[in-house]
Amino acid sequence: MTECVEYKGYRFPATTVKDLEFAENELQVLDDDVFNVTYPKSGTTWMIEILSLIHSNGDPTWSQEVPNWDRVPWIEVQGTEEKLKKIQDRRRYFSSHLPRQFFCKSFTNSKAKVIYTARHPKDVAVSFYHFSKINKLFEYPENFDLFLKNFLSGNLPYGSWFDHVKGWLELAGKDNFLFNTYEDLQKDLRGSLKRICTFIGKELDEAALDAVMENVSFKTMKDNRMANFSLVPERIMDLTKGQFMRKGISGDWKNHFTVAQSEYFDKVFKEKMADIGVKLPWEEN
Ligand code: A3P
Repeated sequence: MTECVEYKGYRFPATTVKDLEFAENELQVLDDDVFNVTYPKSGTTWMIEILSLIHSNGDPTWSQEVPNWDRVPWIEVQGTEEKLKKIQDRRRYFSSHLPRQFFCKSFTNSKAKVIYTARHPKDVAVSFYHFSKINKLFEYPENFDLFLKNFLSGNLPYGSWFDHVKGWLELAGKDNFLFNTYEDLQKDLRGSLKRICTFIGKELDEAALDAVMENVSFKTMKDNRMANFSLVPERIMDLTKGQFMRKGISGDWKNHFTVAQSEYFDKVFKEKMADIGVKLPWEEN
């Protein structure tokens, strides 16, 4: 791993041990806070845009003028403590890829809300593979087969997809936890937006919902410099090797996995997720 920091047996990019300790032990969560939590490549950026647009009642100005990492900042990256001090006159929205065990301790007894978005793990693996080619903080993946082995064993930044999902799903059923999937957003965006609005206690009329839908579409986000990561310095992201807003579809794994890889993945999935107690939408395909 080129530029990841080691923390309690996990690797994290773009941060320091001090920043990770801050996120885990010192960050004081407010009851009104909303957290957008995901394993990488599961729809984090999409949810940032959704929360931003819901917050502004569909007005795209904020999304078009402020980079997504300042609107809904990641709590575990370098400089969060300073960034937090600047958010004083509005509701706070945060993103996080932290596994449950490293998440802010002060969340436990708060009423703050977590929206946990998960995606079909085979599509996550494919998206993560392509992202690793453009993100210089990650090890460049030699080929998909090797990358997949690392994905299945959890030998990647942020650790194992399986442990991440399992850890966070322990909160399923709590009033302040909403489980959402990338595929739900694809199949029924309007219904998903309404569910999110209800969850965070925000009412939008139909015209505002129309505006949110338009501004969180793949096409609009791909063209929005404040959402498509084209403002990230070249030393971190090499956009000549690919795009952050890559395909934005479900099922792209079918173009990457061999039959043998897919069958092995299913076997690992069954073993690792056997004791989860929640039916996941991707178990059969
Ligand atoms: P692909 O690489 O499959 O295209 P994250 O934000 O968690 O890193 O996830 C990135 C993935 O979400 C990428 O997937 C990206 O294209 C996709 N994505 C981002 N915005 C989207 C949108 N509005 N609609 C559909 N997919 C989107």
